[in-house]
Amino acid sequence: MSGTCVIGLQWGDEAKGKLVDLLTSQFDLVVRYQGGANAGHTVVVGEQVYKLHHIPSGILNPNVTNLVTPGVVLHPESMLTEIDGLAARGIDVEKNLIISERVHLVCPWHLAEDRLLNAAVTSGESIGTTLRGIGPCYRDKVGRHYALRMGDLYRKDFPEKLASIVEFKNGFLAGLDPTSKEGPLDLATLSADFDRFAGRLKPFVRDTTHFLLESLEKGKKVLFEGAQGSLLDIDHGTFPFVTSSNASGVGVCPGAGVPPRWIKRTLGVAKCYSTRVGGGPFPTELHDATGQLIRDTGKEYGTTTGRPRRCGWFDSVAVRYTSRLSGVDFLCMMMLDVLSVLDEIKICTHYMLDGQRVDNFPCHVEDLRNAQPVYDTLPGWRTDVTGVKRLSDLPGNARRYLDRVAELVGRPVGVVSVGPERSQTMFSADF
Ligand code: GDP
Ligand code: IMO
Ligand code: MG
Repeated sequence: MSGTCVIGLQWGDEAKGKLVDLLTSQFDLVVRYQGGANAGHTVVVGEQVYKLHHIPSGILNPNVTNLVTPGVVLHPESMLTEIDGLAARGIDVEKNLIISERVHLVCPWHLAEDRLLNAAVTSGESIGTTLRGIGPCYRDKVGRHYALRMGDLYRKDFPEKLASIVEFKNGFLAGLDPTSKEGPLDLATLSADFDRFAGRLKPFVRDTTHFLLESLEKGKKVLFEGAQGSLLDIDHGTFPFVTSSNASGVGVCPGAGVPPRWIKRTLGVAKCYSTRVGGGPFPTELHDATGQLIRDTGKEYGTTTGRPRRCGWFDSVAVRYTSRLSGVDFLCMMMLDVLSVLDEIKICTHYMLDGQRVDNFPCHVEDLRNAQPVYDTLPGWRTDVTGVKRLSDLPGNARRYLDRVAELVGRPVGVVSVGPERSQTMFSADF
């Protein structure tokens, strides 16, 4: 099992952090390979709650090395806050964290661009980004001319490179917002900040690509931790209401820098219902008291931004699509306990669009907006399941619900989670 991937199958926040932390003891390395501080992965250990943004969720295990690989975009100031926060809680970050010199840096101008562009309407709605500068940073990476990578901070020509980027960005930002009351970016202040980042981050920076390939060649076990979710994938998600990286399983190889031959197993993480933060179509969204009940029971408020998450029924059209796209071997069904408050539970089996039955997830955002979900209605179980330790001890209706999900999605359920704690997790016999 050299390479195992943990991938979100919905619109993010599927509880990937909990699962990665739980599985970490079986691995030598945990790898983040896309996204940046837009991610918020929660790990609960007893009374302690950890919210991780850039740092892999393997960091709580002292025997595991955590890599931040080239596909990630890193905001130096928030990375330092994250490192210091963990170190203050006794976590040996310095020993167990390695950051690639190839990661692109999210810079102050990216945050400004994100703020300005996010106010614009795209396809009739704002994307509602996390305002972490993610899209603008990835755009500069692809554009190449005005990008900064971690390794650049340590090169002799960095001062000139920074000066030319700042000059360009000052013109660009003034064009984006001619009425801005913020002054231009100040080169001297920025130079001092980057000097500080370079010094403080130096002990962590290394070529992760060789390290990772060598580890795999030596037979080390590697867990790849996806951020966001497959429906937010830039190429395969609900474009343009997506993030700017390949957040589905297809992103592991380019982001981490590993060939597909090392990927042996993929775990697809899904909530037993659906949530989404920000704009974009969401066919099974609930705008009623049931949606609010799910939000309150599941504490569905963003880990990174605190925004209320939109809530709705489990959508098997979407998860069947993302399970196939991400090459999922097992479904990890999270938050089953939240559904215990409901008398009846619905699962979307297919859509109707322009009078036709639709089983495949539509490509265009307008089709998805117009898709009418068709539901199976199953009886609830109305029993507290948070203390259940074996799948066979779950109430019959909860087992029937999970069986129906597996049947509709076409993948077996390997993990069921009934609470945020490590101990509130059950595994199937064949997992
Ligand atoms: P991630 O971004 O995919 O890692 O997920 P988040 O951390 O953003 O959101 C998941 C939230 O659900 C966190 O607050 C977790 O502590 C919590 N959580 C994880 N598993 C369960 C579960 O089975 N039941 C409940 N009620 N909460 C859970
Ligand atoms: P984790 O890893 C949920 C959403 C934003 C917005 C869209 C684009 O915790 O699951 P961005 O800032 O990336 O340009 O925003 O993507 N989004 C997430 N939603 N969980 C996340 O990460 C997310 N990261 C981005 O809300 O709709
Ligand atoms: Mg999250």
